[in-house]
Amino acid sequence: MSHIEIKAKNKGQQYSILVGNDILNILPPRLKKLCPKATKVGIVVDKKIPKKYKTKIKTLLKNYKIFIFEYTSSEKLKSFNNINKLVEKCLKNNFNRSDIIIALGGGVIGDFSAFASSIIKRGINFINVPTTLLSQVDSSIGGKTGVNSEYGKNLIGSFYEPKLVISDVSLIKSLPQREIICGYAEILKHALIFKSNFFKWLEINSKEILQNKNLNLIKLAVYKSCKIKLYYVNKDFKESGERMILNFGHTFAHAIETKNNYSKNINHGEAVLMGMMLATKLSYLKKITSKKTLLKVLEIYKKNNLQFNINKFFKKSEYSKIVDLMSNDKKNNDKNISLILLKRIGKTTLPGEIKLPSKNLKKIFPKIMKF
Ligand SMILES: NC(=O)c1ccc[n+]([C@@H]2O[C@H](COP(=O)([O-])OP(=O)(O)OC[C@H]3O[C@@H](n4cnc5c(N)ncnc54)[C@H](O)[C@@H]3O)[C@@H](O)[C@H]2O)c1
Repeated sequence: MSHIEIKAKNKGQQYSILVGNDILNILPPRLKKLCPKATKVGIVVDKKIPKKYKTKIKTLLKNYKIFIFEYTSSEKLKSFNNINKLVEKCLKNNFNRSDIIIALGGGVIGDFSAFASSIIKRGINFINVPTTLLSQVDSSIGGKTGVNSEYGKNLIGSFYEPKLVISDVSLIKSLPQREIICGYAEILKHALIFKSNFFKWLEINSKEILQNKNLNLIKLAVYKSCKIKLYYVNKDFKESGERMILNFGHTFAHAIETKNNYSKNINHGEAVLMGMMLATKLSYLKKITSKKTLLKVLEIYKKNNLQFNINKFFKKSEYSKIVDLMSNDKKNNDKNISLILLKRIGKTTLPGEIKLPSKNLKKIFPKIMKF
């Protein structure tokens, strides 16, 4: 039951991210230490979590008054209306700031319950127990909380950090393969943007991670990813500069998802994978990266059967619409499209360095698509 502990620090606030295999037993002693006055725990839980984990957590927390708030995970849950209902339930049951909300689910449950926690009596103790690979390597780190608006995704929210994150990789055993790939996409992104030996490590270990769900390797990948994400978060908590490097591939990905009406034939991770490949190819065409780098990235995709070609999903005539959607991205402050491109493995361009008029991108798009 060993775990690795990462200490996340931001402006005087500190919390731990514990990464391990089968480590939920650690919850009661940590809660006692971090929230000594708590008497109530609200567990916001995803319906798809296997029952044995829900029972385990309830048993572990038998000394508290427990409230279970169970939800089906979907982007529809992330609404202001649903937040209001959850907050009212907590207030009705006299939750105080010293009490605790625990998220037991993926990024949807995490974003939703963290935002509710940030506004209940101006901030109640929040603990995140992420249960998808994506939430373990990405969404549980960095303090962004939020819900969707009819005007776009994640437009209502706050920055609010948890008291503790427990990333227990045994929880992802029940995760469908496509969701594993979603998390892997962000792991690969971390390996591409940050100078370390992580990419080399992934070249060797991706097959074991993706095909055999080797939990020891997944644990290491989660740990390495957390460290890289934290590096950028610590430099730029409110995302006005360097943190935007974490958006590598995502401007393409968001446009792909929107053009596809968020339909299930392309999920977020697959869109990110395609987006990173498009960004890499564009980097090559713009002479920002070498052919050698392009081929290295392509190789890891091909070896692991990762989706990289949007031609399977879109006609040539639709490219222009994708570019239009990219210029609407909320991270663009002017009419040009801001992109993070790849210089070499482990090094990207800086935020604001590459701004392309949409006309130029439309012109070059058919070339990006040729592999
Ligand atoms: N806050 C941030 O910084 C940040 C970063 C990235 C993404 N996000 C958000 O995260 C969300 C996506 O997160 P996600 O990919 O985890 O999606 P998700 O929470 O919807 O989970 C994906 C699917 O897996 C199921 N699931 C969850 N845990 C399971 C388990 N252990 N076993 C079996 N099934 C399980 C869920 O019910 C769902 O069907 C999006 O809303 C996105 O906006 C937030």
